Amino acid sequence: MKLSATLDDLYQRHLTQTQRGNWSYQSLLPWERGKSFKTLPWAEGQGSLTPELTVAVETAFLTEINLPWFTAGLKALFETGPLALKEFVKVWTAEEDQHSRILDVYLALSRNGDPDRRAMLRKQVLTDGYEIDGNGGFAVMVYTTLQELATRVFYQHVAKAVDVLDPVLALILRTIAKDETLHFAFYRDAVRAYLDDDPTRIAMVCEVVPRFRMPGSEMPDFPSRMRIIAQNSGYGVGAYLNAVMDPVLRSWDVWERDVPTAALAPRQALLAHRARLGRIADRVGEKEHPAQTAMSSTSRPSR
Ligand SMILES: [Fe+2]
Ligand SMILES: [Fe+2]
Repeated sequence: MKLSATLDDLYQRHLTQTQRGNWSYQSLLPWERGKSFKTLPWAEGQGSLTPELTVAVETAFLTEINLPWFTAGLKALFETGPLALKEFVKVWTAEEDQHSRILDVYLALSRNGDPDRRAMLRKQVLTDGYEIDGNGGFAVMVYTTLQELATRVFYQHVAKAVDVLDPVLALILRTIAKDETLHFAFYRDAVRAYLDDDPTRIAMVCEVVPRFRMPGSEMPDFPSRMRIIAQNSGYGVGAYLNAVMDPVLRSWDVWERDVPTAALAPRQALLAHRARLGRIADRVGEKEHPAQTAMSSTSRPSR
């Protein structure tokens, strides 16, 4: 009973915060840059970004377009769950929908990246689909907490990298990052409420975190995309560890908790995973090592 009341509160808090920061994609887009591809076909060098930063924005777009699959998976997993989670998924879907939309239109208006190739990739990614592993609603919330924060940090890094080249894009990315912050806060606190409700769930947290991979990791060229992003925006394994994984684990008191015997081995494995990421970050540094080490070298996520 207390759990469902807390989830209700979190949902109401999200509604209040999201209404305060409400934005619409059409007001942020640089419509004045638009030109017909019929009269002026796309060619390299027409856009405002470097090829590498174009890859970063295109990758974000190709991740965000998986929304129909995310929504389908979350809806199925929360089917028998509390009402607040079901309602949150609806609002969340409406907010995420603006993300792929604004990036798609921005890339076309600004002529960053080949629009024909992007259209082909878009179809391919959506046709391939994205399956959320059926490990239960709690596991998916743990995973999604990491995903939302990772996305926020990623957008912030790319926004900083494009600040001078395209301030309009920087503002778009920071606006999306604010949405991701609110999504992250909802899932983080929902997971915390579930842990308060049943502390043995910490075992599942320790099992899910090491398996984290970004959604979209099955898109073509994902490892090389991650390498380019790490080298050109600084979002790599070190940023993931320090600005995503560690803060999330701290917020759930993963290291300080008295854990049940069943959670001791998974927590030890998580500690080893953390140490491994730390060694990679120390050894190669953000500028040289791809984020894929953190996000694609392990097994599928538990979504
Ligand atoms: Fe998003
Ligand atoms: Fe989000």
